[in-house]
Amino acid sequence: MADKASFTYDGKTYEFPVTEGTENEKAIDIKTLRAASGMITLDPGYKNTGSCESAITFLDGEKGILRYRGYSIEELAEKADFLEVAYLLIFGELPNKEQLEKFDEDIKAESHVDEEMKKILDGFPKSAHPMGVLSSLTSALIAFNPSSVNVTSEKDMYHAIVRLLAKFPVLVAWTLRKKTGLPLDYGDNSLGYVENIHKMMFKRPNRDYTRNEIVIEALDKLLILHADHEQNCSTSTVRIVGSSHAGLFASISAGISALWGPLHGGANQAVLEMLEAIQEDGGDTKKYMAKAKDKEDPFRLMGFGHRVYKNFDPRARIIKKAADDVLGDLGIEDPILEIAKGLEKEALEDQYFVDRKLYPNVDFYSGIIYRALGIPTEMFTVMFALGRLPGWIAQWREMRLKGEPIGRPRQVYIGEGARPFKALDQR
Ligand code: ACO
Repeated sequence: MADKASFTYDGKTYEFPVTEGTENEKAIDIKTLRAASGMITLDPGYKNTGSCESAITFLDGEKGILRYRGYSIEELAEKADFLEVAYLLIFGELPNKEQLEKFDEDIKAESHVDEEMKKILDGFPKSAHPMGVLSSLTSALIAFNPSSVNVTSEKDMYHAIVRLLAKFPVLVAWTLRKKTGLPLDYGDNSLGYVENIHKMMFKRPNRDYTRNEIVIEALDKLLILHADHEQNCSTSTVRIVGSSHAGLFASISAGISALWGPLHGGANQAVLEMLEAIQEDGGDTKKYMAKAKDKEDPFRLMGFGHRVYKNFDPRARIIKKAADDVLGDLGIEDPILEIAKGLEKEALEDQYFVDRKLYPNVDFYSGIIYRALGIPTEMFTVMFALGRLPGWIAQWREMRLKGEPIGRPRQVYIGEGARPFKALDQR
């Protein structure tokens, strides 16, 4: 096996080491490329560029494999709970009983949010998109927790991490409660992490909270499925912002903004809005299939296609089944689910989608479950952020512990050459 790769340009040959990951993924290490040749690589969208070596998540887009720290997503979704998965992602191993209890206690000890934060939330109009509110509130947390900014030791990092894991769900719940006109509520530390989130989101002031096992399990599973996905757009954002030592909360706030876009996490909202539009338009899925294939039409079938999965998205399989189970268990008949299934069937048999390897992604079915759980459409991407939080934290921590250099890509300049300044009256 060659451990070097070379290329020749202008009569000169350059050699670079080939590095190999634990799953035999090979990469040409071009760290010395510019110094040796004066050239850089050009790769918009980073389709061929590895930004780091990471030991957190492995995915094989061709085979449809996703593993967190070596454990398959299927097994974790079935056997673990979200807090265990968060610990696994962040610290590398599944926690034993004592470790899990301590982690849980440390998070609970930080689960209050400064009352002053409510004034900031108050300043937003009710119509504000929850993702914008969440990103702003996460950033505002910095002002109330200044010691979480300049963290260098593992101990300080740990404190910043448990603080964020504790306070973020409160912010998520407040974001929803503001939208739905409910008084702001704090959690109940006697409950489990996910159950507490559910309670904080939905507890009504004049009614006791009742636990629903099906709902909590579905929520737990959805959060686990979203918990990490290696170097996607929002995670790369978190790492690059964090690489300037901007601090964990600022990095996560930036990640939330990146996730918001409809080509990324915002797709779950877009999927449901698309399915509703199809339903209102008479349920003609063929018409929308044709629109998706028409290059003159900007419409895309939301929830289809993935930058990395070109076979199937393993999370979509789990979620499709979970959607069936949850709706069945809760006794909900949702015509939107039927439209989604119809669309999926047609797309899987359509040559355009087959040729381009476009399969349903994680967002295609997640919205249907969120809807069944009573979560408003605009909150779907917030739920994604809640699930992704441990992954973002794990990636940020790994980057900081490795002491990675500041992220700073280069460019190929294609603008004007040097030219003299033109005075205003000569332009
Ligand atoms: N509907 C119709 N056509 C599509 C779709 C789609 N959903 N996705 C890709 N295509 C077509 C493109 O038009 C292109 O066709 P062409 O080769 O004839 O020009 C081809 O498939 C390749 O598409 P790209 O956009 O180059 O693929 P890329 O890897 O850059 O994009 C992405 C992946 C952004 C996910 C894209 O498939 C998309 O926009 N999907 C819809 C949005 C979505 O569901 N996003 C969620 C992603 S998962 C996540 O972030 C959690």
